[in-house]
Amino acid sequence: MDSFKALLIEEQDGQVVSAITQMDESRLDAGEVTIRVAYSSVNYKDALAATGAGKIIRRFPCVGGIDLSGVVIKSADPRFKVGDPVIATSFDIGVAHHGGYAEIARVPADWVVPLPAGLSLYEAMALGTAGFTAALAIVRMEENRLTPAKGSVIVTGATGGVGSLAVDMLAKIGYHVVALTGKESEAGYLRSLGAAEVLVRQSIDLSKIRPLDKGRWAGAVDNLGGDILAWIASTMEQGGTIASIGLAASMKLNTTVAPFILRGVSLLGIDSGYIREPYRRDVWQRLASDLRPPHLESMSRKIAFEELPATFTEYVAGRAKGRVVVELAGG
Ligand SMILES: NC(=O)c1ccc[n+]([C@@H]2O[C@H](COP(=O)([O-])OP(=O)(O)OC[C@H]3O[C@@H](n4cnc5c(N)ncnc54)[C@H](OP(=O)(O)O)[C@@H]3O)[C@@H](O)[C@H]2O)c1
Repeated sequence: MDSFKALLIEEQDGQVVSAITQMDESRLDAGEVTIRVAYSSVNYKDALAATGAGKIIRRFPCVGGIDLSGVVIKSADPRFKVGDPVIATSFDIGVAHHGGYAEIARVPADWVVPLPAGLSLYEAMALGTAGFTAALAIVRMEENRLTPAKGSVIVTGATGGVGSLAVDMLAKIGYHVVALTGKESEAGYLRSLGAAEVLVRQSIDLSKIRPLDKGRWAGAVDNLGGDILAWIASTMEQGGTIASIGLAASMKLNTTVAPFILRGVSLLGIDSGYIREPYRRDVWQRLASDLRPPHLESMSRKIAFEELPATFTEYVAGRAKGRVVVELAGG
């Protein structure tokens, strides 16, 4: 393909601007594996990057899109051959290395994983970085000995991508899931994914967070940070495990050590970006097997490339629901 379309993010007069443009392979970054992109997806980070609402891009200009699935068209690495279906997520993709919002991507082989048997290229991006991160959080909590028998797990930002997938996966493997959302109208959606209870964020009084409150959760998957994470820490049960994933509400965390030293609560940091093997392939294998979310199809929708800018606006406004898959070559 001589020329192909890409969503290029640039900095002009101190402002971040993004536009659909034509590229050619000579402008792609270095890497051993060249991929015809079938699908990419929209994550909160993509929206912050493309709109400049967050300082995400570390190298301008940069093709956006932090994840992609597709088929190998060139490979200088023995692990991958032409025709292999693959997934590439994380590392510098879409932030400091041209990403998945393009018909062609070229990336280092270490950033690529084979598409696990049982997942289609579309499903791989319906999961995308969000699914990988939710599954990584579950794996890390399991390593910390969390089991369904220990009690409830609360998931915050529950209607978002990571949140919806975490609710669906946790419910599937037997957890009593409490979904915390700012969207009261989406209680039915969250129950359809398997949430046993739905809590509305506005019902929590965040002005009165005590160092320790009544213990309610054995586990927590937090996408919000800030006061919600502080409230979660104070309401964890003895020996509980929190997976801290996101900052959709705030980067700050103002809490006390009481939950950690008096209740033995663990705060696990989840970083999908730079976690290496054996996690990467193992997590994708689990996404294709026991953690495969039963409601992946109903929680995801496909958009055309041209619909990206309008979709970013929805994400930045906190109105995201479920997963959005961006069609490039399809497949
Ligand atoms: N650590 C990692 O490796 C990693 C990987 C992926 C994502 N993340 C982070 O995880 C978070 C979720 O990502 P995502 O892609 O799932 O995002 P998303 O699809 O945009 O979902 C975020 C959800 O958070 C809630 N929310 C949004 N803005 C909020 C605000 N100002 N205050 C309170 N709640 C708000 C909303 O859910 P409700 O209305 O249901 O509450 C929204 O749907 C983001 O912060 C993202 O950067 C981290």
